[in-house]
Amino acid sequence: MSTPAERVRRVGASREPGPAGIQVAEALGHRSGILIHGESLRTLRTMPAEAADLIYIDPPFNTGRRRRLQSITLGSGERERTGYQGRRYRYEVTSDVSYPDNIPKDRYLQFLQVRLIEARRVLKEHGSIYVHVDHRAVHHVRLVLDEVFGEDRFLNEIIWAYDYGGRPRDRWPSKHDNILWYAKSAKWQFNTEAMERMPYMAPSLVSPEKAARGKLPTDVWWITIVPTNSAERTGYPTQKPEKLLERIIQASSAPGDVVLDFFGGSGTTAVVAEKLGRKWVYVDISPDAVRITRQRLAQQAGGMFGTAYEVVKLG
Ligand SMILES: C[S@@+](CC[C@H](N)C(=O)[O-])C[C@H]1O[C@@H](n2cnc3c(N)ncnc32)[C@H](O)[C@@H]1O
Repeated sequence: MSTPAERVRRVGASREPGPAGIQVAEALGHRSGILIHGESLRTLRTMPAEAADLIYIDPPFNTGRRRRLQSITLGSGERERTGYQGRRYRYEVTSDVSYPDNIPKDRYLQFLQVRLIEARRVLKEHGSIYVHVDHRAVHHVRLVLDEVFGEDRFLNEIIWAYDYGGRPRDRWPSKHDNILWYAKSAKWQFNTEAMERMPYMAPSLVSPEKAARGKLPTDVWWITIVPTNSAERTGYPTQKPEKLLERIIQASSAPGDVVLDFFGGSGTTAVVAEKLGRKWVYVDISPDAVRITRQRLAQQAGGMFGTAYEVVKLG
């Protein structure tokens, strides 16, 4: 019998898509996922309509720079840097992962809009989409979503609050991201029974039974970022915590449903979907992102679950 990791290798051979494009249902028939190394719009256009039950995307934020995360080892290597009290240290770069986040501002919303139009087509009738942005883009992106999905299809603006990083001295430190949730039609999934409940802030104000049961989460989510020293950490810039995706996938899909992420990054959506028994479609243009996601899936397969997925290179 093959181990889960071996199954990944055997079915993980690359293939060019046929003229009919990526037949999601067919490809997922006996596999848990499709990992696509390709451009998001091009990929979406090859997908049939109504292929996904849930979409989560965390698009590039248009910071105007390259997103980079380097890991270094101090004490050896050719390079030098200045540290505390001007002391010089030798160091070597042990990993260097990056992707461009430099779409010109005037093109950014158009970039998103064309992909959101395709995303709506690819969603099933009862499906929904979560779009993860931040305070710099949320007001613009909400208008685009209103236009594509309809104002009446807006469900929530979720505030993901965390506490990490620098604190400016001239304004309130911005410590949240915004996740906009829209439905495709008047029916959508919201599985309150599947949600992890939370403790009441003032348990003495509710009955002991209610306090023991906990409450359903609101639209403000306190979830820590992926800690630097955690096993979850992949080294990919802008990696999102699995906890965040767990809440979204549990609330808005059922086991066996198809979850699509067309800005997949380090594979958080794919890994969590797999853990929760959903099928997944991952897309990313960056070779680093694809490499890290494959490593991550293989690690999970070796240790925790069996993953048999198909790899498609759209070039
Ligand atoms: C903010 S990151 C996603 C991070 C991800 N949520 C995670 O947890 O790791 C955005 C991703 O979009 C990818 N990307 C940017 N432009 C793209 C495009 N046109 N097509 C496909 N992927 C793209 C980048 O390579 C990057 O991995």
